[in-house]
Amino acid sequence: MSFDKVHQEKQRRLSKAVEEVCDELTLTSEKICELTHFFIESMEKGLGESKEDASYRGLPMIPTYVTGKPNGTESGVLLAADLGGTNFRICSVDLQGNHKFALQQMKSKIPDEFLEDDTVTSDDLFGYLARRTLAFVKKYHPEYLQNKEELKLGFTFSYPVDQKSLASGTLIRWTKGFKIKDTLGKDVVQLYQESLEEQGLSMVRVVALANDTVGTFLSHCYCSENTGSLTSGEIVEPVMGCIFGTGTNGAYMEKIENIKKLPEEVRQELLQSGKTHMCINTEWGSFDNDLKHLPTTKYDIDIDQKFSSNPGFHLFEKRVSGMFLGEILRNVLLDLFNKRFIFTQYTAEEKLPHRLKTPFELSSEVLSHIEIDDSSQLRETELSLLQSMRLPTTYDERIAIQNLVRAISRRSAYLAAVPIAAILMKTGALNQRYHGEVEIGCDGSVVEYYPGFRSMIRHALALSPIGPEGERKTHLCIAKDGSGVGAALCALVA
Ligand code: BGC
Repeated sequence: MSFDKVHQEKQRRLSKAVEEVCDELTLTSEKICELTHFFIESMEKGLGESKEDASYRGLPMIPTYVTGKPNGTESGVLLAADLGGTNFRICSVDLQGNHKFALQQMKSKIPDEFLEDDTVTSDDLFGYLARRTLAFVKKYHPEYLQNKEELKLGFTFSYPVDQKSLASGTLIRWTKGFKIKDTLGKDVVQLYQESLEEQGLSMVRVVALANDTVGTFLSHCYCSENTGSLTSGEIVEPVMGCIFGTGTNGAYMEKIENIKKLPEEVRQELLQSGKTHMCINTEWGSFDNDLKHLPTTKYDIDIDQKFSSNPGFHLFEKRVSGMFLGEILRNVLLDLFNKRFIFTQYTAEEKLPHRLKTPFELSSEVLSHIEIDDSSQLRETELSLLQSMRLPTTYDERIAIQNLVRAISRRSAYLAAVPIAAILMKTGALNQRYHGEVEIGCDGSVVEYYPGFRSMIRHALALSPIGPEGERKTHLCIAKDGSGVGAALCALVA
């Protein structure tokens, strides 16, 4: 065979293999509808089952004890701390009572050893959080150190906790790569409070614990000036807060009468005091852990079983969130390599660039560059893969990689639309008023920075049971600094 023929044949085999993988990653309108109905079923089940322990496989649907939505007139200065998947942030939030706020913050990247080293303990982690809190107070508010009065702090903790009140909650399981065993089952508010006291910060009181989605929802309600009447006369209602970042999750207000898992006396007490709704942290990362309906490829199975810190759980998150998009691509590429379709200059897996063999080394940021690369010969993709992975590629390989990237991100965004459509349907939010519109407060690196992610969610919402009409009434808004402001709002009412 001539050189050209060999090249053409190689290219044909690669694009056929890639097409097969992309087909497997494609979600039809029927599948989106099936998943949406199953999500609603799972929510109803989760609201009735009081088993938020580590072995529970259903949708957690955790009551948060937040029973009202802010309207933007709240005011006060509060502290907020936020432990997320990548950073720890400590801030003072000045709520100015006019939908506006001012914020001073100190952000630190969580040291790698907390995620990688098996010998790290809970004391190490919370000691670190308390030391960062002390550093913040010393730098920005040294006057607090003389304080006799209590300073209220809201703690955003972006992991599944079983909450029994606004200011307490035990860790059910770690997600997003953390695996510190001795935190499991412990009250994270107490752990943080004790560590603050050890650092001499006993004037700081951790008065509220909030998931980041709850914080995002509350802060969106506070900041949204559309709530109430728009100039055009339409009413826009904030309905949920969601995160599409390292992890994914959402929170919304549910009628207290539907939250069957609340102890009867608590439910009655709340209803008698005039409360009607409570914010539910769905923990939708754990949707369909039994894989009854979620689309599943062999790559998803491998990532969950071989490479994740919580195998068998948070399977929806492993198809949607930023932590996993690059890992899915890495697994597909290794498989195509092992079948001799790609990177054929390397004779064996050991010879591949080290980073391609390392789990979680390929980041979703790299995918975001490839997604929109329209440079000639896909040069940007070439550079990006060389810089981040030390991986040289041919033009044919880059075309294949771009197709894969687009299929992986589209599946993620289409799946992301499922819980949104389900919550809009379950709460009847779209039908509450004539011409009523709804707002969804979103935060997280993927929804904020991944090119086209929000429009892909919108495509899928139009394909979901809410249809194009429901999609048009739904506004996906970025809620910046959501978790800090939200935690402060929680602390204010505590
Ligand atoms: C956690 C959630 C969190 C989400 C977004 C998930 O891994 O389980 O509690 O809200 O990530 O940060």
